Amino acid sequence: MCGIVAYIGKKEAYPIIIKGLKRLEYRGYDSAGVALLNKGEINLYKRQGKVSNLEEFAQSQDLDGFAGIGHTRWATHGPPNDINAHPHMSTSGHIALIHNGIIENYNSLREELKSRGYVFKSQTDTEVLVHLIDDIQKQEQVDLVEAVRLALLSVIGAYAIVVLSTENPNQLIAARKSSPLVVGIGKDNDFFLASDATPIIEYTNQVVYLEDEEIAIVDLNEGLKIINIGHNLEKTPYVQALELQLEALEKGGYEHFMLKEIHEQPRSIRDCFRGRLNATEGWVSLGGVKDYEQKMIQAQRIVMIACGTSWHACLVGEYLMEDLARINVEVEYASEFRYRNPIIGENDVVIAVSQSGETADTLAALELAKSKGATILGICNVVGSSISRITDAGSYTHAGPEIGVASTKAFTAQVTVLTLLALSLAHKKGTISETKFRTMLSELEAIPEKVKRVLERNDDIEAIAAIYKDATNALYLGRGSSFPVALEGALKLKEISYIHAEGYPAAEMKHGPIALIDEEMPVFVIATKGTSYEKVVSNIQEVKARKGKIIAIVTEGDEDVKAMADHVIEIPDTDEHLVPLLATVPLQLLSYHIAVMRGCNVDQPRNLAKSVTVE
Ligand code: G6P
Repeated sequence: MCGIVAYIGKKEAYPIIIKGLKRLEYRGYDSAGVALLNKGEINLYKRQGKVSNLEEFAQSQDLDGFAGIGHTRWATHGPPNDINAHPHMSTSGHIALIHNGIIENYNSLREELKSRGYVFKSQTDTEVLVHLIDDIQKQEQVDLVEAVRLALLSVIGAYAIVVLSTENPNQLIAARKSSPLVVGIGKDNDFFLASDATPIIEYTNQVVYLEDEEIAIVDLNEGLKIINIGHNLEKTPYVQALELQLEALEKGGYEHFMLKEIHEQPRSIRDCFRGRLNATEGWVSLGGVKDYEQKMIQAQRIVMIACGTSWHACLVGEYLMEDLARINVEVEYASEFRYRNPIIGENDVVIAVSQSGETADTLAALELAKSKGATILGICNVVGSSISRITDAGSYTHAGPEIGVASTKAFTAQVTVLTLLALSLAHKKGTISETKFRTMLSELEAIPEKVKRVLERNDDIEAIAAIYKDATNALYLGRGSSFPVALEGALKLKEISYIHAEGYPAAEMKHGPIALIDEEMPVFVIATKGTSYEKVVSNIQEVKARKGKIIAIVTEGDEDVKAMADHVIEIPDTDEHLVPLLATVPLQLLSYHIAVMRGCNVDQPRNLAKSVTVE
């Protein structure tokens, strides 16, 4: 988390940095700050809260400067306030630094620096780095680049940093380990640095993704230089052309990014399977992982690792792969997997699923699996992200940039890729009949149109939202692959509207949550036609018997559940395996409307960040 952005060149740095920070605000919005280099001095502006607070505060000040750094924070060490906001400065005022990540040994470094007379203003781990660099420069009499390098050698933890200094006004120094950093090479001999490419895309599509343990020096006279932190060896930068479109980063007439992204799903799902399936010819092909399919078929098991919403997508994937391809699948929280000394070896395939491709726990879990000899694959949305680069192979979800912190279109795209994968493996393995295979391909092709039809029910869904907006608790129930949908529905509600919500396998309700049910409790049930339909209907009866309020997601034309439920939301009929792609959508809309009605900040819910780059 935390977003960093920096600029050096012939343009005024401040407007570029502020705009960039707004694009990166999804990474954290506890505070924001900029440092600008002007006439040999660094001017620093920091404010608790959103970037707009900083803008307001800074507007009447001296904002000149052709070099600057900016930061939007998701607090880890020290509460969100003006002092703990980045950038942090050396005592002399010669160095300013921004940081995304965690310096794990900051306490011992801090004590050591204190004993040498350094005075700390903030409670952050980051301030340690500034003083450490300053100290090394003084002790060792080395230039700033070398001081940064030596400082990073003594640091344990994760970082993406950018250093601005009065010593060399033509230069910015950046470095990364475990936290992402992109260098943009401008058309005007200028340079951009950012946590992701979104602040850069407007100015250039030429970028270099910094690798772990590398330092990038951008210098107006000498250009871009990359060195390795450990060996101090220089390497030739690998410049890539970005394909990101600027319009994809705008709200496009919608009130919130989340609403736009919910409505984009017919397109994003289609983009996800475009060129990867053909129902008429009867084939499915995921180019990126094709060479690893045999390995997956023969694997002892497939372990899927993820966090948050992506973990829910994995659960759907588990149902699909086990049922269609008859492959043993386990789904793990990345954060648990990595610290559990998991039994994993060469015969295992580990698939990481991640929208951002940067989630610290998922990344670390993958690295662990790799070190134990497993084949590691990735399903990511962000092109060029860390996970996509360290995996043996992978598939992109092609959902386009997702800005709303609560994941929507990325989830359905992940489920789409996992469906394609399950179908492809099942077909190769012969565990699916040709007729069933072709029917499912046609059904999948029809999903975008069916999602459109679900979206057309927006007004009905909004009316239901108005009835339950003041609830304090909510229960979500589903069975089979609708159980992860229930989990995802509950997560969406709690993330953005702060209503306590729990997702449960419908039958498990009897083992606890049923005690909570009374006339105040809305219970959202996915009760579409399929294997468990009758069982779910019984569960609905159990809730009704306790006077709970039932809001059921049902298959179009279902009159039975309609007769029992307080409200129904109909979704088009589809193959049972594809229900998650449709049933999730009304739950997203419900949460969205409830959050808006409660006056919540839908795109930037409190305490959350989109990209969790700390463990
Ligand atoms: C955060 C986001 C979630 C996301 C999760 C995993 O918690 O707020 O929306 O599902 O991280 O992120 P990833 O990028 O790995 O999918």
